[in-house]
Amino acid sequence: MEHEWIKVGNVADIDEDDTHSVEIDGKQVCLYNLGGEIFATDGTCTHGDADLSLGMVVDSCLIECPLHEGTFDIRSGRAVDAPCTEPLHCYPVKVEQGVIFLRPVH
Ligand code: FES
Repeated sequence: MEHEWIKVGNVADIDEDDTHSVEIDGKQVCLYNLGGEIFATDGTCTHGDADLSLGMVVDSCLIECPLHEGTFDIRSGRAVDAPCTEPLHCYPVKVEQGVIFLRPVH
């Protein structure tokens, strides 16, 4: 099924190396600003029920879960540090004139 691009916010609203939580179709999605480039992953840690938008961006490309401090690569969703082993789903993102659009594909 073809998914539409959905407007989810503005680049200006997310500081560099910061996160922003949005809800799409009842699902939490976490947006990230890595050096001006926007990425999006599922908002819930695959290890437990933790909100990744409350975690910290470390090493310029990893999100550290606020609960047990496991990490994921924001750009690929890859689980990097234990106890995380299952990857995060990543969403396609595009930016047009400062507006962030996301395609909710699974
Ligand atoms: Fe995220 Fe355990 S819930 S590392």
